[in-house]
Amino acid sequence: MLEQFTVQGGKNLKGTIAISGAKNAALKIACAALLTDEWLVLDNAPLLSDMQLICQILDELGVEISWVGNQLSLRAHTLKSCRARYDLVRKMRGSFVLLGPMLSRFGRAEISLPGGCNLGVRPVDIHLNGLRAMGAHIEVEDGYVIATGKLHGAEIFLHFPSVTGTENLVMAATLATGRTVIHNTAKEPEIVDLCKCLKAMGAKITGHGTDTIIIDGVDRLNGATHRIVPDRLETVTYAIANIMTHGHIYLTNTEAWCFDALTECFPQVKIHNTDFGFLAEGPVTEPVNLTTAPHPGMPTDLQAQMMVLATQIPGQSFITEAIFENRMMHVPELCRMGADIAVEHNDGANKATINGGMPLYGAPVMATDLRASVSLVLAGLCAKGQTTISRIYHLDRGYHALDEKLNMCGADIVRSKQEAA
Ligand code: EPU
Repeated sequence: MLEQFTVQGGKNLKGTIAISGAKNAALKIACAALLTDEWLVLDNAPLLSDMQLICQILDELGVEISWVGNQLSLRAHTLKSCRARYDLVRKMRGSFVLLGPMLSRFGRAEISLPGGCNLGVRPVDIHLNGLRAMGAHIEVEDGYVIATGKLHGAEIFLHFPSVTGTENLVMAATLATGRTVIHNTAKEPEIVDLCKCLKAMGAKITGHGTDTIIIDGVDRLNGATHRIVPDRLETVTYAIANIMTHGHIYLTNTEAWCFDALTECFPQVKIHNTDFGFLAEGPVTEPVNLTTAPHPGMPTDLQAQMMVLATQIPGQSFITEAIFENRMMHVPELCRMGADIAVEHNDGANKATINGGMPLYGAPVMATDLRASVSLVLAGLCAKGQTTISRIYHLDRGYHALDEKLNMCGADIVRSKQEAA
């Protein structure tokens, strides 16, 4: 049965929140276990429904899995199947990164095409063309990508710095024969973390974190123990919660660089590194004009949360979503809470004009995707009255125990079964 959150706004927030390991690093690093027959041990693994899902898919393929607290151990000694099913893959596009490592080590991979999602069409041409350049034979049958062949090094140009595209190709190249050079790669810190883990497993990689990654293939990779980096998206989300509620929430188990996107987009925000953890403080009084872009630009995964912050800044702010064509579904929901936001569609990008400084009021609203959902929680925390957010399963994909973490700081969020529509 679906669940909902009921948030009583206007509470004074004070306390400490421990940030989890980064979802978008852990998911891909778990898939890297397919590259070796030895144990890969991941510390600081986040306890998220998306992680359970990737483990379920890996388990069906024959990977041994053990979770103890935040430590996830995986061992792909042999596989009993090379087929990742539609029912599971469609629930999480990130699972498409199984393709590169599975093909590279076992010479065959069958994975359902992930299809579109709430954020838009989301093609996978970058993944498939890159693997073809490395010698893979790829066919699409009954909605499944069937990839076979022994991979060799290649020079690959990505037409867009796709995050999972880069990750799939880097993992595939680690066991390919010879050198692979990938140009226009994504530079996200989670990709750097994946490459660090691959290097600990014996891979030969240079250039990660820049726009050209060079991989010299090796015959085999070994097991390793790796600590997942902190989640910068979770970090900034709670930092915004603190700023908007004028609270005293100290963030631990995170690092100073995790706040970079926040301080770059909102230069008035100050981050204090104290004995109790990091404290993000406003006030933020200057309107902003922001556009999402690949790292190190403004993260699309923080666009919704930053828009909520902009609703509380007097004056007119502009936020343009340039990565995904359909990632402003939080706007009508925020408007139901009293925000004044208008969206204009232009050339595949959506530009929101936010007339800020208006008070927000509680209302029943619906979560539509992971980051949109959390933006509604942020709005609910500083709204007057009660906000009910339905379909919060989106939220549980990427925020571990969000209600418990905030309630420990004095928030009033109740999780309950959703009333039937
Ligand atoms: N694109 C192509 N062809 C491809 C792949 C992508 O044209 O083959 C286009 C997409 O249509 C999109 C753009 O490139 O317009 C960016 O997509 P990208 O491939 O970089 O996104 P992704 O790898 O599918 C990851 C994160 C997303 C995050 C984006 C952008 C994971 C599991 N997912 O998706 O995270 O929004 O990068 O930074 O790492 C989230 O955590 O909430 C989330 C959606």
